[in-house]
Amino acid sequence: MGKLQGKVAVITGATAGIGLAAAELFVKEGAHVFITGRRQKELDAAVRAIGHGVTGVQGDVANLSDLDRLYETVQATGRRIDIVFANAGFGEFRALGEITEEHFDKLFDINVKGTLFTVQKALPLLNAGASIILTGSVASIKGTPAFWVYGATKAAIRNFVRTLAIGVDFPNVLGYLFRLTNLLDVLYFLAFLYALENSSRFLPPLPPLLHLPAS
Ligand SMILES: NC(=O)c1ccc[n+]([C@@H]2O[C@H](COP(=O)([O-])OP(=O)(O)OC[C@H]3O[C@@H](n4cnc5c(N)ncnc54)[C@H](OP(=O)(O)O)[C@@H]3O)[C@@H](O)[C@H]2O)c1
Repeated sequence: MGKLQGKVAVITGATAGIGLAAAELFVKEGAHVFITGRRQKELDAAVRAIGHGVTGVQGDVANLSDLDRLYETVQATGRRIDIVFANAGFGEFRALGEITEEHFDKLFDINVKGTLFTVQKALPLLNAGASIILTGSVASIKGTPAFWVYGATKAAIRNFVRTLAIGVDFPNVLGYLFRLTNLLDVLYFLAFLYALENSSRFLPPLPPLLHLPAS
């Protein structure tokens, strides 16, 4: 039996890249997935590629009525949600001096507004113990040329995870156990573990952290 047997997942931005790979894996592990993307043709192709255990719902996460339609579609099947993977995101990069209002609004609308409302609108449908996964980026903490606006949107997502973890803003779901994962943090954590495990290969032996007096 798969690790996600009988579970229901919503994955936004899942017609390509990380979202599609996650959808394929979740279905392989037994979940039914609802996937989204703006382009119908790519959505249809993704649904065909996954093959079974998948429902495609066309929509733009920056458009709140599209998000309403997504969750109405889930509800109409009589299902509730075990995993919300707010993954849809958009990258566009401009140096300071070339940033336009359109660039700013587009990135904040998709990456920040879209992520926040993907999670908020899912709340009434979440099962106890549901997982909320947000796709972050190393750009949230690192200065990178031309990543002014993109980095800021991902910094907002990083903060969403911390605020969600407190749990007090959502009284209707208090008492539920949420597993919150910021993909960025997971990657850092794995890199940290890897570096620890392999430190002797890359670094000279570290001095002992604690010298106990000889007895
Ligand atoms: N690739 C990287 O190196 C990288 C690094 C760090 C973080 N990330 C983050 O990882 C996430 C996924 O990135 P990726 O590289 O896997 O992306 P990708 O291969 O470009 O795929 C993006 C997916 O999101 C959909 N999408 C884009 N805007 C959308 C919107 N407004 N509403 C609904 N769906 C939308 C796209 O379909 P449509 O275009 O048809 O809507 C597509 O299915 C993003 O949040 C990105 O910021 C990526």
